[in-house]
This record gives sequence, C-alpha cells and structure tokens, in this order.
Amino acid sequence: MTFTSSASARARPGPAGHHPHVCPPWIAWLLASPLRRLVEDPSSTLGPWVRPGSTVLEVGPGFGFYTFPAARLVGDGRIVCVDVQSRMLKVLERRARRRALGDRIECRRVEDGELPCDLGGQVDLVIAINVVHESVAPARLMAAMARTLRPGGHLLLVEPRGHCVEELFAAEVRWGQAEGLHVVDRTTRRMVWRAVLER
Ligand SMILES: C[S@@+](CC[C@H](N)C(=O)[O-])C[C@H]1O[C@@H](n2cnc3c(N)ncnc32)[C@H](O)[C@@H]1O
Repeated sequence: MTFTSSASARARPGPAGHHPHVCPPWIAWLLASPLRRLVEDPSSTLGPWVRPGSTVLEVGPGFGFYTFPAARLVGDGRIVCVDVQSRMLKVLERRARRRALGDRIECRRVEDGELPCDLGGQVDLVIAINVVHESVAPARLMAAMARTLRPGGHLLLVEPRGHCVEELFAAEVRWGQAEGLHVVDRTTRRMVWRAVLER
C-alpha cells in the first residue's frame, strides 16, 4: 500500500529548468566515496535532527553516504530506506550488513512519487538529499514525504545547485508548506540548497 496524492499535487509539473533524471549506479558509487567527507560531514548535518530511538525515512539513499551515519545516531531506532531502483537497495543492504547495521536499516522499493502508507504520521525525520529534483512528480513526492511525519517531525531537504534550479528548490519548499510544514532552517551553500521543514 502506498500513499496516493491529491489531484492537485499530481497535476503540478516542475518549473522550467526541471529535467528529471534518475541517478545511475556509477554516480551513486562516487557519492558514497569517503572523499566526499572532505566537503560534507553527514554526522554533523544529521546530528541536530536525529535522536536515539527515532524512526527515520530516507528517500533515495543511494549507497548510504547518509544512511550509515544516521543508523549509528538512531541507536535502537530504525531507518526505512526507499528507492525507485532495486539495484540501489540491494547494494545498500549488502553494505549495511558489512557494517553490522543491517538490523536497523529496512529497504523498500517504491514507485516515483509514492511512499509506503504504513509510515503515515510515524516518522521523526525524513532525509531527502539530492533526490527530489530526480522525480518526475516532485510536488507529489514532497506531499507524500510530508504526510509520513508525526507532529514535530522534520524533513531535511537538500538539493545540489548544479542539478536543481533555484525555482525548483523554492517550489519544493512551497509544496511542503502547502502540506502544513513550516521552514525552521534554511541555508544556501556554494554547492547546495538546504532547508529543514517541521510538521
Ligand atoms: C543522486 S542519488 C543521491 C543518493 C544519496 N541521497 C546521496 O546524497 O548520496 C539519488 C537517489 O535517489 C533515488 N531516487 C530518484 N528518484 C526517486 C524517487 N522518486 N523516490 C525514491 N528514490 C528516488 C535514486 O535511485 C538514487 O538512489
């Protein structure tokens, strides 16, 4: 069972400059490189938003650059990882087992713009890093992510400035707000757009 979105969220296209394209596995390998930590520290990005025991939903985890630090932070909590590509999830599961984190990470394949219904109102933190711009239905995906959050839960939305035009990022934030979220933190860095929204 997956969330179905409202007709208005389904109908909304991305703005001009939105060219959805799902990341191929070879790019996911590059994104999982330890060298990335020289410019991006996942533990400090996630630290303020993940509590031990939390339920975290990661949309588009790739090969786990953010997943494994998040899994260490949740302790006896859990991370549900969803991706449109089962190949991504297979590699992620293998890498999680090697790190003895397999019991905290659950992988599920989803269709673009859909998320599992059983997560509705259950999630403390949604991680959506470098993913929403890849969707052909970004409004629908934002709405589905918002609906998984419990009251007080957060959505960490990060997009790469190279692949995501400013108008699309602004629209993503607006689509979250239209679902009842409000922005509690927003920063623009040299390489990324970033916002944290709260339910
Ligand atoms: C560029 S990679 C980012 C991986 C990871 N978040 C990171 O920053 O290292 C994008 C990932 O999102 C997945 N993806 C793309 N569209 C998606 C969607 N609509 N729902 C779930 N996953 C999606 C891709 O298959 C890929 O695993």
